[in-house]
Amino acid sequence: MLRTLIVLLGLGLVVLITGLWVTRAVSIPSERFAGIEGDAVRGERVFTASGCASCHAAPDSDDKTLLGGGKTFKTAFGTFAAPNISPDPEAGIGGWTLAEFASAVMEGTSPEGSHYYPVFPYSSYVRMSDADVADLWAHMQTLPGSDRANTPHEVGFPFNVRESLGGWKLLFLKREWVTEAMTPEVERGRYLVEALGHCGECHTPRNALGGLDRAEWLAGAPNPTGSGRIPSLGPDALDWIASDIAYYLETGFTPDFDTAGGEMVSVIENTSKLPPEDRAAIAAYLKALGE
Ligand code: HEC
Ligand code: HEC
Repeated sequence: MLRTLIVLLGLGLVVLITGLWVTRAVSIPSERFAGIEGDAVRGERVFTASGCASCHAAPDSDDKTLLGGGKTFKTAFGTFAAPNISPDPEAGIGGWTLAEFASAVMEGTSPEGSHYYPVFPYSSYVRMSDADVADLWAHMQTLPGSDRANTPHEVGFPFNVRESLGGWKLLFLKREWVTEAMTPEVERGRYLVEALGHCGECHTPRNALGGLDRAEWLAGAPNPTGSGRIPSLGPDALDWIASDIAYYLETGFTPDFDTAGGEMVSVIENTSKLPPEDRAAIAAYLKALGE
């Protein structure tokens, strides 16, 4: 009951905010990428660290590089389906320009200029570097095409009106880092956690409008897909030493030789493929949260 009330209040606020500022979706001009040539080999590391395949790989295929989409996500705002982002020019995004792709990933804006839903974690990817976006795009061109047609989302009013997301973006789409980084290693870890790995999307609690609560950064959150909580990665909760964290991200084993479960399994599928220095950087970042 209270939850319904909060959601209704939230809903009203979104509509109000939208009414006050009908924000136009931001598209990145093609000139910004004019001199940048993407490198497909480097882009594979960006692709892995960003977990694109965890959502966009076709659920009925073992090939994690076949990005035909179709996986669904139940949220408080409706059920969303991941679209086809394979290089197929008709069913996928093969016909897009690099600037259109960058606008989608970093600004949550479609080539037609409408807003994407934040289940697509662009509010983390907004912090990606232009060079990494170009490399990622180059890598994605090398993946197989899929002709799978997109599954429509099931979203009720007012969220089925994409304009209503303008207010959300105004409040929650922020490029600034959440934390300070005092060393180059922690800075790399911050980039992997706050931008590419979008760890906060699961490990940080959300407010009634579905925005991440930065004051409770990585402090644990209710599991959106069911029962139980996603654990806190904060210094009071995660007392593992840095090498234990890196080992967990490589193998899925905790220091007590439990194995990672739930949605963390697909995250570790990705972090296990990163170079060891990236896992060490993530661990260094998490340890620095306490300082
Ligand atoms: C947590 C799941 C999730 C992750 C991770 C994710 N996406 Fe998505 N993505 C979605 C969903 C859901 C949509 C649909 C959003 C909408 O329709 O508003 C989407 C939409 C898109 C679109 C728009 C496609 C179209 O046809 O308009 C592109 C492009 C895209 N994602 C690329 C990526 C890339 C590249 C990555 C990795 C850097 C990525 N996504 C990671 C869930 C995800
Ligand atoms: C899609 C949701 C999701 C994302 C994204 C995610 N996690 Fe997790 N994480 C979980 C869940 C769920 C668990 C609990 C796993 C279990 O029950 O075994 C977990 C557990 C963990 C643990 C173990 C904590 C403990 O006390 O057992 C660590 C460390 C961790 N995650 C780090 C990360 C890092 C680093 C990232 C970003 C690279 C990340 N997670 C991204 C869902 C996620």
